[in-house]
Amino acid sequence: MILMKKYFISIAVLLLILSACSKKDSPGAGPVTPPPVIPVDTSMYKMMPFPVGAAVSVNLMQNNIKYSGVVKKEYNSLTAENAMKFGALHPSANSYNWNDADYLVNLALLNNMRVHGHTLNWYTSLPTWVTSFVGDSAAWENLMKTHIQTVVTHFKGKVTSWDVVNEDFEDTGIPRNSIWRQKLGNDYVARCFQYANQADPDALLFYNDYGHEYSTAKRTAIYNMIMSLKSRGIPIHGIGMQFHTTHTQSDATIRDAITTAAATGLKVHISELDVRLNINRVQGLTFTSTLAQQQAARYKFIVQTYNTIPAAQKFGITTWNVGDADSWVPGWQGAPDWPLPFDTNYLRKPAYAAIIEGAK
Ligand code: XIL
Repeated sequence: MILMKKYFISIAVLLLILSACSKKDSPGAGPVTPPPVIPVDTSMYKMMPFPVGAAVSVNLMQNNIKYSGVVKKEYNSLTAENAMKFGALHPSANSYNWNDADYLVNLALLNNMRVHGHTLNWYTSLPTWVTSFVGDSAAWENLMKTHIQTVVTHFKGKVTSWDVVNEDFEDTGIPRNSIWRQKLGNDYVARCFQYANQADPDALLFYNDYGHEYSTAKRTAIYNMIMSLKSRGIPIHGIGMQFHTTHTQSDATIRDAITTAAATGLKVHISELDVRLNINRVQGLTFTSTLAQQQAARYKFIVQTYNTIPAAQKFGITTWNVGDADSWVPGWQGAPDWPLPFDTNYLRKPAYAAIIEGAK
């Protein structure tokens, strides 16, 4: 009798195990591990081992309470999306317009956020007084130096770090034939760093560019330039990788980009992160949960890989704006897209939790 009972109990246990296994394996049974629940009152930056920033629009900070609320709550570093570019700050030869940039800097400091300056030198976003400027190389040098030093001095002690030179290479790895290179020669890059350093010796100075993850030639050219600047004692402290990337970018190329940047020994900033989904620029595309999960996986992998570099080199990760409605990507790509960790209502997307998970 006792034996029979034991026999029946064993069969029952076996059946239970089998049914549990089949549930686990059957398709459509749902994820085995539920997605992490991030309490609504938590801030992203409090969960991260390095600063997490957003590039922000002054207009939205001033006029959209949901936007400014999310920025202040979730992030602890801030970049001006446009307000510190040459044309915005220095619209005519003898006038500077500090209003918008000052507004952002003061707001950031009041909210204990770090400010990263973007950008002192770039081949574009230049006002016409610069693109049509006539002068010899000494006059051009003076123009460039005066702009850099006036801006860095104005924000001295408030802006922690600067993108000194932005996007100086083509995707082929060839130095860009920019107005600055045309007027001032190849070594203007080094002088930009020296001028910035003279104006604020405490500011951390970055070289910033895109394409590290998709162009080996460009990544190598940037690495070589940085190593050459370092060996000459030029004050350069960081490398910014924009990472305007896609949900299809491979693990290997993302890893190569991050490890090559870290091999410079400089601080590494993922400075303009967004993960676009509409790579074929389909006009009628909609944002599905599959796309959301694929995007989250890329965000997670990028953060996870970044988190493996030495702690002293982790300057932080900055997303290029906040919510999908604010992204520059649809305008740039000419197609709908959803590249950011917050949706059009500033609700957290799967990418948000993925960033936090990636940093664990
Ligand atoms: C973009 C802004 O997001 C847009 O609003 C603006 O119209 C053009 O510039 N690389 C950079 C950023 O370094 O400054 C660019 O920002 C995006 C690409």
